[in-house]
Amino acid sequence: SFSSPEDASNYLAEYVIAKINGFAPTPEKPFVLGLPTGSSPEGVYARLIQAYKEGRISFKNVVTFNMDEYLGLPATNDQSYHYFMYNKLFNHIDIPRQNINILNGLAKDVDAECSNYEKKIKKYGRIHLFLGGLGPEGHLAFNEAGSTRDSKTRKVSLVESTIIANSRFFGNDNSKVPKFALSVGISTILDNSDEIALIVLGEGKKFALEKTLHGTKNDARFPSSYLQDHHNVLIVCDNAAAGL
Ligand code: GLP
Repeated sequence: SFSSPEDASNYLAEYVIAKINGFAPTPEKPFVLGLPTGSSPEGVYARLIQAYKEGRISFKNVVTFNMDEYLGLPATNDQSYHYFMYNKLFNHIDIPRQNINILNGLAKDVDAECSNYEKKIKKYGRIHLFLGGLGPEGHLAFNEAGSTRDSKTRKVSLVESTIIANSRFFGNDNSKVPKFALSVGISTILDNSDEIALIVLGEGKKFALEKTLHGTKNDARFPSSYLQDHHNVLIVCDNAAAGL
């Protein structure tokens, strides 16, 4: 836990850089990185870009898998997670386009899109590090309350509280927030990742963080409690989220 969101973001960015550089990825053996959206990881992404500009990190041999995408939003929509990722990270670093994987929110065959995503992850074997954020009510990616431990990449319905929380990006108009999304599942994250690192910032996340750490394990009402079932989770937070 850090006294400011800046220090927390800085720590996680340096952690990611050290992991990638320590792995020494090659085209044959890329570093596989899972990535979240939301406001929480923005500071981490800004610092990764800075480190790239300083020549301290290259993403040439990094393969990324994003957690989720709204259903029905084209990549050109500035609220799509495609747009967010290119705007906040990919356009500013040297990652090859073919190394970037994001679920297609306009897929005609949603089931095929989701099962192909699972297959692509499996093709790489492991996700070496999966970064994540935390929804105010404990959602992970778009795994809302009720998501099961064995859930895989699939179409999900967003719950009212998520729609309200995310409406700030849609001119505070709930009706503009997509009602469905494609999301990796709990199993996709837990069973494929060597390590999971969450960035949790602000007082609004205090309740969710408490439940994640000390709530009942594998409580479907708080999907982040499934993280207690993983052997290697790092939580980077600020003191406001930690309730310190
Ligand atoms: C969205 C994303 C989640 C993210 C959450 C929290 O719902 N699907 O992956 O963790 O927002 O966002 P923020 O970091 O802006 O609070």
